[in-house]
Amino acid sequence: ADALRVGIAGLGTVGASLVRIIQTRANELAVTCGRPIEIAAVTARDRTRDRGIDISAVTWFDSAEELAANAEIDVFVELMGGAEGAAADSVRAALRRGLHVVTANKALLAASGVELARIAEENGALLNFEAAVAGGIPVIKALRESLTGNTISRVYGIMNGTCNYILTRMEKEGLSFADCLKEAQRLGYAEADPAFDIEGNDTAHKLAILTTLAFGTQIAPDEIYLEGITNISIDDIHAAADLGYRIKLLGVAQRTETGIEQRVHPTMVPRDSVIAQVDGVTNAVAIESDILGELLMVGPGAGGNATASSVLGDIADIAKSRPGAQQVPVLGIPAASLTPYKRAQ
Ligand code: NAP
Ligand code: HSE
Repeated sequence: ADALRVGIAGLGTVGASLVRIIQTRANELAVTCGRPIEIAAVTARDRTRDRGIDISAVTWFDSAEELAANAEIDVFVELMGGAEGAAADSVRAALRRGLHVVTANKALLAASGVELARIAEENGALLNFEAAVAGGIPVIKALRESLTGNTISRVYGIMNGTCNYILTRMEKEGLSFADCLKEAQRLGYAEADPAFDIEGNDTAHKLAILTTLAFGTQIAPDEIYLEGITNISIDDIHAAADLGYRIKLLGVAQRTETGIEQRVHPTMVPRDSVIAQVDGVTNAVAIESDILGELLMVGPGAGGNATASSVLGDIADIAKSRPGAQQVPVLGIPAASLTPYKRAQ
């Protein structure tokens, strides 16, 4: 069968891991997907940087926009980041020409997800974004596909690996907030601007996406009550521990009688609860629904391999898809059927 030709924009933590995995697992992927996955083209800002990957035989493009316009690729993979600029422009352009897109960019989806879903649907393109929420945990697939028919009442959890890593190491090893953040950056967990992690915006972006998938409403990141972890001290963590609690940065979205409630803030959770045991870069997402009951998914929430694993799963889904077959709507239901967001009173 013809290879699926992939163009990758962004060769940082996630992009470089993705290249490495596709190259080292080429034979297995060809069998699993029924066709080879070929890295046909790449781009990043600095062509000369050593990324620890061999891309000498891959076509280099000078910009993401040029890569998205290239006729030789079947899938455009956006791993640059940012709600605007090159990421937004190139993803829009790719979808407009009917090119399938895979992205890990939650900031972009929180800002423009409904518009992008509409463009994808109008042009018969797939837009997959499993890596955008909770890294390697298949929570988008769970909400978009597995829980079809369920009425969901609540989605909540630990959705930022950097914050959970910081809170865990502060508590267990007595390290300073600044040292833990530096280490999270070194390990490739943090956003390019780590303020998005520690001030809670990244969790809010992810929560806004999950809210839309869970409740079928417009994406509404600005409706989220937002408080990050920048004011949490070791003393706070110890005081919570003395009372039998641990502090976690949670994102919570729930359906109420008056509308949807969305909030992100540090939360004291009972030490014996499952969510309190989730340490380090691990994330946990709980989904409460009427047919299934409570589903709790726990797994690696950030980092090159964890994230690339989800990106690869999205690419594999595209490789296995058949032209003209019924597609899963980008946001679970067609973009035109999303209802207005109504905030709980
Ligand atoms: P990163 O390490 O900062 O890498 C970003 C890459 O994009 C770099 O290769 C950079 O080029 C390239 N780039 C940035 N702006 C560009 C532009 N205007 N044109 C062309 N290339 C550009 O970021 P990352 O951690 O891999 O994250 C990538 C995306 O995945 C982001 O949306 C992030 O939120 C998301 N994500 C990350 C993780 C994680 O654990 N890291 C997890 C889930 C989702 P240079 O290398 O030349 O500078
Ligand atoms: N910076 C993010 C985190 C990456 O720490 O969770 C994964 O989305």
